[in-house]
Amino acid sequence: MTYIKVVATVARLRHTSAMLEIRDLSLSVTIQGNSVEAVSSVSLQLESGRVLGLVGESGCGKSLTAQSILRLGEHQGVRKSHGDILLDRDSLFEMSDETLRRMRGGRIAMVFQEPMTALNPVFSIGSQIIEVIRLHLDMDLKQASARAVALLTDVGMEDAQQVLAQYPDALSGGMRQRVLIAMAMAADPDYIIADEPTTALDVSVQKRIIALLLNLQRKRNLGLLLVTHDFGLVAEMCDDVAVMYAGQIVESGPVSEIFDQPAHPYTRALMGCRPEVSEAGHALPVIGGQVPQPGQWPQGCHFADRCPLAQDDCKKAPLAANVWQQNQHIARCLHVNTAIKG
Ligand SMILES: Nc1ncnc2c1ncn2[C@@H]1O[C@H](COP(=O)(O)OP(=O)(O)O)[C@@H](O)[C@H]1O
Ligand SMILES: [Mg+2]
Repeated sequence: MTYIKVVATVARLRHTSAMLEIRDLSLSVTIQGNSVEAVSSVSLQLESGRVLGLVGESGCGKSLTAQSILRLGEHQGVRKSHGDILLDRDSLFEMSDETLRRMRGGRIAMVFQEPMTALNPVFSIGSQIIEVIRLHLDMDLKQASARAVALLTDVGMEDAQQVLAQYPDALSGGMRQRVLIAMAMAADPDYIIADEPTTALDVSVQKRIIALLLNLQRKRNLGLLLVTHDFGLVAEMCDDVAVMYAGQIVESGPVSEIFDQPAHPYTRALMGCRPEVSEAGHALPVIGGQVPQPGQWPQGCHFADRCPLAQDDCKKAPLAANVWQQNQHIARCLHVNTAIKG
């Protein structure tokens, strides 16, 4: 264990100013034989020790963006058409296959929404965690098993030794998600990308998993990218937030400022959809209409068709990401001042 601690400390010292940066990234997908843009000029910055929320309705491009960080999705026809992703200034698109392999899990790890798809039902929990550990750390079986037990204990499994021998089917959804988080921590990464990590779980289990993730994030000074459709979770967990709508970031900035003064009508609408703010017994407010699919985005503001404040000028030409700006807080909207007054 001392060895692990030393390796981890050295790694951390090396990456004191660690930063993961998505720079002006556009991704295209193939729909009915046509290549269409699905993520448009997205820029995000994640520093170690901070939690960044990426929030928006289903279909807005959050998962495509998150997965692009590990260059996943390329097998499903997702292609980078523009931009870059930098890990401490090194482009992920210029990495050798070997560096990429080490980076995945070693520097940046991912926790998915549905743990069952990420776990293999025919192998025991122990063999799957040990495999990840040995892929990244120079350990024999005995050392790796000890580390697996330590990791499972860290994620709140009391009978970690017993869990090693179990198969994914034998565990509840919450326990499986704990196993995935333990696997994500296996090689002591600097960043965790959690894509709707609690969406598939019961509310009480969700709360415990969120508490666990935040606890690990603080203890290990991780940079955490939390993908979610739930603004309540953003309030609880994040330092910064980027709001995504139809392939674009429409608003971003420090969470405190965005909660204090949401600038974009889409953000305001999403915040109105939080269960906490709607009266008990009343149906949740919903945003009328639907997120347009890639290939069907309007040419001006993507949200114009659903926006209560939209004017003719919104529909004319594409809008810059920072049409409105106050320090780090930016919004892609021509009518922020009307939105704030309203
Ligand atoms: N591999 C793919 N091929 C074609 N279309 C895709 C692919 N992946 C995602 N999409 C489409 O891109 C849009 C954004 O998807 P996604 O990133 O999964 O959204 P979110 O995670 O915000 O719900 C959706 O319309 C989805 O159908
Ligand atoms: Mg998604």
